[in-house]
Amino acid sequence: MKRRDFLAGAAALAACSPLPPGVARSVSRYGLAQHARRSGRHFGAAVKSRLLREDTAFRAAVARECDVVVQEYELKRGTTEPKQGKYDFSGADQIIDFAQDHGMRARGHALVWYAANPPWLEPALKSASGRERQRLMTSYIDMAMRRYAGRINEWDVVNEAVEPNQGRADGMRMDSMWMKALGEHYIDTAFHTARETDGRATLFLTDFGLEHDSPRCERRRTALLKLLDRLLGRGVPIDAVGIQGHLKPYKERFSERQFANFLRTLSGYGLKLSITEFDIADRGGPPSPEKRDREVASIAKAFLDVSLDNPAMGSILCWGLSDRYSWLSNFPEYKWPDGQLSRGLPLDARMGRKRLWDAIAAAFDAAPAVGRRSA
Ligand code: XIL
Repeated sequence: MKRRDFLAGAAALAACSPLPPGVARSVSRYGLAQHARRSGRHFGAAVKSRLLREDTAFRAAVARECDVVVQEYELKRGTTEPKQGKYDFSGADQIIDFAQDHGMRARGHALVWYAANPPWLEPALKSASGRERQRLMTSYIDMAMRRYAGRINEWDVVNEAVEPNQGRADGMRMDSMWMKALGEHYIDTAFHTARETDGRATLFLTDFGLEHDSPRCERRRTALLKLLDRLLGRGVPIDAVGIQGHLKPYKERFSERQFANFLRTLSGYGLKLSITEFDIADRGGPPSPEKRDREVASIAKAFLDVSLDNPAMGSILCWGLSDRYSWLSNFPEYKWPDGQLSRGLPLDARMGRKRLWDAIAAAFDAAPAVGRRSA
């Protein structure tokens, strides 16, 4: 069969059957969101408004692959409130408009975090008195959530609350300005405020370093579970846990059984789950990109199979969509010393689908179906 006939045949097949198995990925008109939909899930990516505006191929790829978007940085407070009381939601607005124009859902990332804050905030927090301290957090949550009420369905209310390496017996992150100013109850206050402000939004506690079979991740899982015990015991309105899913397979191992147990414990608390920032750091892998792509794809499949086997797992979002713009290529721990691009996202630098795309599609195709729901 001539190549052209084969492609035409594959395209015709893709056009008439719902989700044909085995159609070449490059010609399938089904994006990852359609594969996700089949099992009642969602697929999305973190995006930057400038890329949606300026790179038409990237914009088309997001429209084709995703049914959820999240802001890679434009809804972090360092961007939205650079000076106290002076707001800039222009980037986030564009992303939310894009989501609405394309019938997509939108997540909000993140209301309360120890990082990416404006420089004025920590000094203001330190010099404020008790009630004022709380207000520096709650008034922001209130304002941001009101602005997007009905348009952002899910919020990362508190991001990265635990860090057992910092020496506290309870594993709480010590270098958080919120922890220092308000103690652990900053989390209670943040979630109660979020619930009061927008009762329809799904409220997430999100964290990283929960995925691998390593002492580091084991400590982090334990700290998070203990924190959840305390929070849920106090009636804090947390709906969901977001597991960031930044995998580093060339540094740490992955155990399907161990990760499945962890997810089961979380869903046993009645919490919804999502993978909110999936990508794979390929630094340290085989020098051949072809070989590395195969390995990365098989690691992704193992991780996603376990994730999607849990009926509480509602969506998978990648942290970016194309290797061209991946944060992995700039972040000191993950970037290649020789400057080559990381290959940790489903699309390559020219927006072509990679083996990692196949692995994500295949994991969705194989996942047991669940009722479609908000998280
Ligand atoms: C990252 C962005 O991708 C970078 O562009 C930025 O410089 C730093 O933050 N965990 C998170 C995300 O919750 O907000 C981070 O995003 C990646 C790690």
